[in-house]
Amino acid sequence: MRILLLADIHANWSALSAIREPFDACLILGDIVEYGVEPAPCIEWARQYGTVVIRGNHDHSASQRVPPPTGHGLRALAGATRQQHWNVLSPTHLKYLSRLPVSQTLELDSKKFHLVHATPRDPMDEYLAADPETWKARLAGIDADFVCVGHTHLQFHLNLGKIQLVNPGSVGQPRDGDPRAAYAIIENGQVQLKRVEYDIDAAVSALKDANLPPEVTELAESMLRTGGRP
Ligand SMILES: [Fe+2]
Repeated sequence: MRILLLADIHANWSALSAIREPFDACLILGDIVEYGVEPAPCIEWARQYGTVVIRGNHDHSASQRVPPPTGHGLRALAGATRQQHWNVLSPTHLKYLSRLPVSQTLELDSKKFHLVHATPRDPMDEYLAADPETWKARLAGIDADFVCVGHTHLQFHLNLGKIQLVNPGSVGQPRDGDPRAAYAIIENGQVQLKRVEYDIDAAVSALKDANLPPEVTELAESMLRTGGRP
């Protein structure tokens, strides 16, 4: 069985549509929306192909109509795209996001999977670096062969003994200096961390058409082109 792992799509349809991997199951680890401006096709894709789709902090904020944050940088980008989403998404889209589970366990290919956007202690918000000892402590008591997470936008695979911990990285807003879309494949118990080039110009063009504040558009474009932190 070939399992496609995706996380942090962030309303970047150009990036998501560039991933042309064959798969038998697709696990989506949250943050389908915000930071980008094409949330609808990303939600439709997740609805159609996601075997399990987990709720991320941005899916939660957009669908629960959390007031847009004030401030600069990523906070401003999240706020501006959240408001843009409320104009372009249907009530059905928002309801879909609002009903996503914050964590889920399932068995695939005789392996136990535990899925969560951030960490089991704080499923939507905790940032944890790829440090094996910290993660071992955080996963104490979790009975799984694979724990799959997103949230940090950093791609990694840690072998923690019984548990393999996988973060496929971010499809739509990588932050590790590599602007290509990130994802992972798990097949026959083997993890492959993968990247694919996509049409960044098309994503930037969509951003510019959305008429967000200029400083927000500039930040988003810079992050997409460099795969860098703000
Ligand atoms: Fe994210």
